[in-house]
Amino acid sequence: MGCVDWFTKSTIRIFQLIFMHHGTKKRIGVCTLMACFLLLALMFIINQKPTNFVNGKERRIHQTNDNNIGVLTIPKREHKSVLCTSNLKSTVCEVQGDVQIQVNSSSINIYYATDDNMEEQASMSTRIKPYARNQTKLVNVTEVVIQNGRRSSKVGPGNPQWCAVNHTVPGIVFSLGMYVGNYYHEFSDVLLPLFLTSRQYDGEVRFLVTDTKSWFINKYRPMLNLMTNHDILDIDNDDRVHCFSHVIVGLYRHAEFGIIDSMVSPQSSYSMVDFGKLIRLAFSLKRETVITTPKSKQKPRLLIVSRTGTRKFLNLQEMIKVSENLGYAVTTSESPESLFEIAKLVNSFDVMLGVHGAGLTSMAFLPMNATVVQIVPWGGIESLARYCFKSATLEFGLRYREYIVGKNESSITEKFTEDDPVLKDPMSVHRQGFSVIRRTYLTQDIRIDVHKISVLLLDIFKTYQN
Ligand SMILES: *[C@@H]1O[C@H](CO)[C@@H](O)[C@H](O)[C@H]1NC(C)=O
Ligand SMILES: *[C@@H]1O[C@H](CO)[C@@H](O)[C@H](O)[C@H]1NC(C)=O
Ligand SMILES: *[C@@H]1O[C@H](CO)[C@@H](O)[C@H](O)[C@H]1NC(C)=O
Ligand SMILES: *[C@@H]1O[C@H](CO)[C@@H](O)[C@H](O)[C@H]1NC(C)=O
Ligand SMILES: *[C@@H]1O[C@H](CO)[C@@H](O)[C@H](O)[C@H]1NC(C)=O
Ligand SMILES: *[C@@H]1O[C@H](CO)[C@@H](O)[C@H](O)[C@H]1NC(C)=O
Repeated sequence: MGCVDWFTKSTIRIFQLIFMHHGTKKRIGVCTLMACFLLLALMFIINQKPTNFVNGKERRIHQTNDNNIGVLTIPKREHKSVLCTSNLKSTVCEVQGDVQIQVNSSSINIYYATDDNMEEQASMSTRIKPYARNQTKLVNVTEVVIQNGRRSSKVGPGNPQWCAVNHTVPGIVFSLGMYVGNYYHEFSDVLLPLFLTSRQYDGEVRFLVTDTKSWFINKYRPMLNLMTNHDILDIDNDDRVHCFSHVIVGLYRHAEFGIIDSMVSPQSSYSMVDFGKLIRLAFSLKRETVITTPKSKQKPRLLIVSRTGTRKFLNLQEMIKVSENLGYAVTTSESPESLFEIAKLVNSFDVMLGVHGAGLTSMAFLPMNATVVQIVPWGGIESLARYCFKSATLEFGLRYREYIVGKNESSITEKFTEDDPVLKDPMSVHRQGFSVIRRTYLTQDIRIDVHKISVLLLDIFKTYQN
C-alpha cells in the first residue's frame, strides 16, 4: 500500500483508523487504487567478480562499461552487534558477529554471539517483520526473532555451535508476503528495496527468502540474478543451521518508490537511473534512451495503456485517431503474458499514456527520456496520483506529464446528482477514508476530451522531432 503513506499524510486520522481496521482485506484494493507503481528500478549488473571486493575498499565501476553503474563501497564489518534502524518506510536490523539462523514452525530465529556478556544479555531479543513497510499490521509476514546468545543445544548433531552451512558472504532476510501479488508493490516494496539493500555487495550476498512465492522468483529471476551471484534460499523450508558473520534482516526503503541520495552509504553512489539500467540489462532491452529523429523520418511511438475493469477509456478509438492525426504511431494496451514480453514491448515506445493505476508501473521498461502521461481521474486525487508515480518517473530519467480529467469527462456525473457531495465537495468524501475514495473516485470511466488532450500530445510530439 505504497499510497497508504499518502493517505495518512493527507487525510485525517479517521482514515487511518478505518484503514487499519480493514487492513487485511483492503490490501489489494488499496494497492490497485493507489496504484502506485512504478516499476522498478533497477539494479545493476555486475560484471565484475567477487574478487574485486575487498573489505573496506572502494570499488569504482568503470563508466566505459554500460552495464556497470555507480560507485560501490564494500563496508568493513568488524563489530559484534545488532543495529536496528527504523524510519517511516521500513525497519531493518543488521546483525554481526557469530550469527546463526534457524527456523522453527513459528519464527525465524537468529542468534548472535558476542565475546563477552553473553550470559547477561542472553535474554534480550528483538522481533522484526522483514517487509519494507513501516506499519503495524504486516500480514503474511513471518517474524524474525533476534537473540543474543547461542542456539539451544538441542539443535544440531551434538554441538550447539555446529553450523550445517557456513556462509562467507552476508545474508539478507526478507519476506514475500504482504502486498506481493500487486505489480506496483512488487517494485516499490521488494525489488527496489532489495536493490538498495544488496547493491553495495555487488552480488556477493545471499538472499534468504521467507513467505516465498515461486511465481515471484520466476517472474523476476532475471533481476534477482543481477543482484546476487548465489542461489536464493527458501529459509522457511530449510531446517539446517546457517551461519554468517553478517546478516541484514529486512530491506531498506527510502521513499514511496525512489532513492534518496543521502540515504545511500556515504562512499557508494547509485540511483534510480542505475536501477533502470539493471532492469534493461535483466530483460535485454535494447533502447537505453530515446533518440530524437529528424522530422518525418520516424513517427514517435505512443502506447495507450487501456484498462478493462474500472477507469476505462470510453472513447479509445477517438483518442487513437486524434493521436495518429498528430503524427504518432499508436498502439493500445499491453496484453503479453510474460514480463519479458511486456518489457520488450514497452521499451519500444517514446510516450506511454495511461490512467492512474498499477499498469503505469510498466514505465520502468521505457527508455530514458521517454514521456509518461498520467491521466488523473476526477475527484481531487491529484496528490495521490503524483505521490505514487511522479517522482519515480522523474528519477528514472523519464519525463512526466499529467492530464487532469474534468468533471464533464467522467462517468461519475451519471451516478450522482449535481448537488451530491461526491460531485460538489470531494474533500468531504476524502475524509471518509481511502476505501471510500477508492469506491467513489477510482471506479469512474473516462471520456477524454480529444481537443484538450491534443494540445498536450502535440506539445510532447514536438519534443521528439528535431
Ligand atoms: C520458535 O522460536 C521462538 C523464538 O525463539 C519461540 O518463542 C517459539 O516458542 C518457538 N516455537 C516453537 C514451536 O518451538
Ligand atoms: C515507523 O517509524 C517510526 C520512526 O520513524 C517508529 O517510531 C514507528 O514505531 C514506526 N512504526 C511502525 C509501525 O513500525
Ligand atoms: C496469506 O497468504 C495465504 C497464502 O498465500 C493466502 O491464502 C491468504 O489469503 C493470505 N492472507 C491475507 C490476509 O492476505
Ligand atoms: C562451520 O564452521 C564451524 C565453526 O568453524 C565448524 O564447527 C563446522 O563444522 C563448519 N561446518 C561445515 C559444514 O563445514
Ligand atoms: C534527455 O533529453 C535532454 C534534453 O533533450 C538531453 O539533454 C539529455 O541528454 C537526454 N538524456 C538522455 C539520457 O538521453
Ligand atoms: C468540459 O468543461 C470545460 C470547462 O469546464 C470545457 O472547456 C470543455 O470544453 C468541456 N468538455 C467537454 C467535452 O464538454
